Amino acid sequence: MALNKKLINDIITVTSKAAISCYNFIGKNQKKEADKAATDSMRNEINKLSVNAEVVIGEGELDDAPMLYIGEKLGSGGSLNLDIAVDPVEGTNFVAKNLPGALSVISIAEKGNLFNAPETYMNKIAVSKKIPFEATDLDFSIEKNIKNIADSLNKDFKDITACLLDRPRHKKIIDELKRMNVKMKLITDGDVSGALMVTDDKYDVDIFLGIGGGPEGVLAASAIDAYKCKFQGRFIFDNDKDIARAKQMGIKDLDKKYNLNEIIKGDTIFCATGITSGDLVKGVNLKNHNYVTETLVTHKSSNICEIVMREDTI
Ligand code: FBP
Repeated sequence: MALNKKLINDIITVTSKAAISCYNFIGKNQKKEADKAATDSMRNEINKLSVNAEVVIGEGELDDAPMLYIGEKLGSGGSLNLDIAVDPVEGTNFVAKNLPGALSVISIAEKGNLFNAPETYMNKIAVSKKIPFEATDLDFSIEKNIKNIADSLNKDFKDITACLLDRPRHKKIIDELKRMNVKMKLITDGDVSGALMVTDDKYDVDIFLGIGGGPEGVLAASAIDAYKCKFQGRFIFDNDKDIARAKQMGIKDLDKKYNLNEIIKGDTIFCATGITSGDLVKGVNLKNHNYVTETLVTHKSSNICEIVMREDTI
């Protein structure tokens, strides 16, 4: 097994340390500084690993982002060739404002198996594995998706919960869900967490939908991969620059719908460490001069989906 236990442990260390590195920025209204601390930490820690990793989802393009840019090579070498998607701080506003739900996130696959996504918005849906694959689709109306989910779960519309980012661009979706009397979970940020809400009944979310970041879409797909949930995404290219960039990246069909197995293939590791406490994991906690962290870890080939606690000395 190429993505083995040792690598899982190493990646937990990477996201834990990144989360710890922005502890001092929690509630300081300094989102750029928090992001930089986590990014620097992630880069340093990955560079200590005996791997050849390439960033396919990162902090942006080489010109704009000094660290963890798309195409950046990381690791100290060896025979393990990896694609890596990073979001050192998913929910920078949450850290800055000391609100629940900030995470430090990484997803890993073997070389060539992780989609190289452009920095555009993506229209997404994610649904639980309990719902038949063909019951939902990005091209169905909201009504059809909700009706099919309700039928598969034998629930009334009023007992279905849809999670989405609370944005003006979602007004039509929100109005439609309201009309149907569907329960909404309107999140202010953090759509990787939003998508993860469909993985377990305890979160009481039946569908995650709407438009968010494309890179976060790839991370969300890899987050729910080991849970065997459904993810579909379609990039939104609505200006000449994004269209040119997509073409340069080899995307021929700009309107293509991507299913999870086209975004991430083969074995995967996903780690998300809490920076501030949220629905999924607790945030970094200072206890007896140690930092305690919680990381949500998944490893597809060994069916691991668990929360790991770590204690790090200061
Ligand atoms: P950051 O952590 O980079 O601030 O992203 C937070 C986030 O909410 C993502 O989870 C989401 O995909 C994106 O921003 C949505 O973008 P926008 O705020 O432009 O709607």
